Amino acid sequence: MPGPLDSPPAAVIVLAAGGGTRMRSSRSKLLHELGGHSMLSYAVTAATLLQPEHVVVVVGHQREQVLAHLAEVAPHATAVVQEEQRGTGHAVQVALAALPALTGEVVVTYGDVPLLTGDTLTELVAAHRAEQATVTVLTAQVGDPTGYGRVLRDRSGHVEGIVEHRDADEDQRRITEINSGIYVFQADTLAAGLAGLQPDNSQGELYLTDVIGSASAAGGTVAGYPIEDVWQVEGVNDRIQLSRLNAELNRRTLERWMRAGVTVVDPATTWVHASVDLGTDVTLLPGTSLEGATSVAAGAVIGPDTTLADVEVGAGAHVVRTQGSLSVIGADASVGPFAYLRPGTNLGPGGKIGTFVETKNARIGAHAKVPHLTYAGDTEIGEEANIGAGVIFANYDGVAKTSSRVGRASFVGSDSVLVHPVEVADGAYVAAGSTITGHVGVGELAVARGTQRNIRGWVARKRAGTKTARAAAAAQARQDEQTQDEQIQDEQTQHEQQHHGGTES
Ligand code: UD1
Ligand code: MG
Repeated sequence: MPGPLDSPPAAVIVLAAGGGTRMRSSRSKLLHELGGHSMLSYAVTAATLLQPEHVVVVVGHQREQVLAHLAEVAPHATAVVQEEQRGTGHAVQVALAALPALTGEVVVTYGDVPLLTGDTLTELVAAHRAEQATVTVLTAQVGDPTGYGRVLRDRSGHVEGIVEHRDADEDQRRITEINSGIYVFQADTLAAGLAGLQPDNSQGELYLTDVIGSASAAGGTVAGYPIEDVWQVEGVNDRIQLSRLNAELNRRTLERWMRAGVTVVDPATTWVHASVDLGTDVTLLPGTSLEGATSVAAGAVIGPDTTLADVEVGAGAHVVRTQGSLSVIGADASVGPFAYLRPGTNLGPGGKIGTFVETKNARIGAHAKVPHLTYAGDTEIGEEANIGAGVIFANYDGVAKTSSRVGRASFVGSDSVLVHPVEVADGAYVAAGSTITGHVGVGELAVARGTQRNIRGWVARKRAGTKTARAAAAAQARQDEQTQDEQIQDEQTQHEQQHHGGTES
């Protein structure tokens, strides 16, 4: 990582007025996301790392969306509208016209080059200063330079100019050093160059690249600063490139975590946003997605097939085949498989949210267990309580939502419904199959269900001729036979006792 600059550049201009038609989207290209952030927010974040006086974003196409988004992610940035996209040179003219006269350096970047880092921009400015250049261009060697501007260097290696692919001759097209479109300019060199731009090229545009030629002709040092890491200068024009860069960003994030002591069993199916925080000896199993402000503490195991967004997972917890958001999972707790943790779930240390359980706004105490087939919404469940299989917390009466509480170490029997608002005190029991509508006191057992009633001969009368009736008849016959046998035996025993007298005890 480069050290901070002694002094910041005057401005960073982010060009972002282009159309992005190849995305085929109703959403601005700049708002499409990778790693949990928009392309534009990466560009503005990198620009901001230089701490310039002005961060300027040139907007044009779909500007309502872009302006609204910018206000959200980078309220410190100045947005400047380029009504008509008349070329990269024109875009910079428009940006400068909106600013007071600048002295010092002006950095130009693009809004659709998301892997470019602030560190690279810092290095570029430092190289520019070391060379005392009037312009420094960030360049890259690429296998296929088709479409890019080529960097023209003289024998001593100084940059003489940039020629666009479509304006280049055959010899120039063989050059594999390309213009990334990212530059540092001395403000006066830039102003002079922009003033002289002519649209005398195949596109009839004002090319920013022509400023490089004029700066070189003016006799100042024009430097080319090559970057090894070509991904950082790759732009996104369609969704195929978006997915490629997203995968690369993710690969980089995962490698950083693996170096820091996290096991990632299958990097190809594991997606971790840059904003996520992971402890040592965390294990991520295949199919895991960790998003937003998610954090996972030491030794926890996540996955397989788990998506957590803004979830805090405690040390040593296990989260298996789970979907969760805005929740807290305590240390050594166990979640899943097949659990759905909705916002406001807070599972205490050592607690359990088990199979086919949905929770929402539920505070579940330490070592409490909700192991099977439960809906727990708007409730507080005390420490060491046990919620039986299939318990439903009925929090909604069709109009309003209300809450309930189950006390410490209490036991709610399987298939019970707690009709909110209701309270089960500490140390209480609810019998299986109960529908609880009233308070259950300390140490009480609540039974709230119909008493069992058996109607003899019902199957034979009401279901005659069915397989059930036949089974009943057969079972009845066996029972009758057994009863007869027992009677005969009883009679024999009685008979024997009469003849031999008494029993031994
Ligand atoms: C530009 C460079 C080329 C370089 C390439 C790298 C020029 C003339 N060419 O070509 O040398 O290799 O980038 O990707 O600069 N934009 C505006 N307003 C405009 C025009 C463009 O804001 O009027 C923005 C676009 O939104 C985009 C960026 O500038 O983010 C580049 O524009 P684009 O038209 O894609 O330039 P390229 O033809 O790729
Ligand atoms: Mg481009």
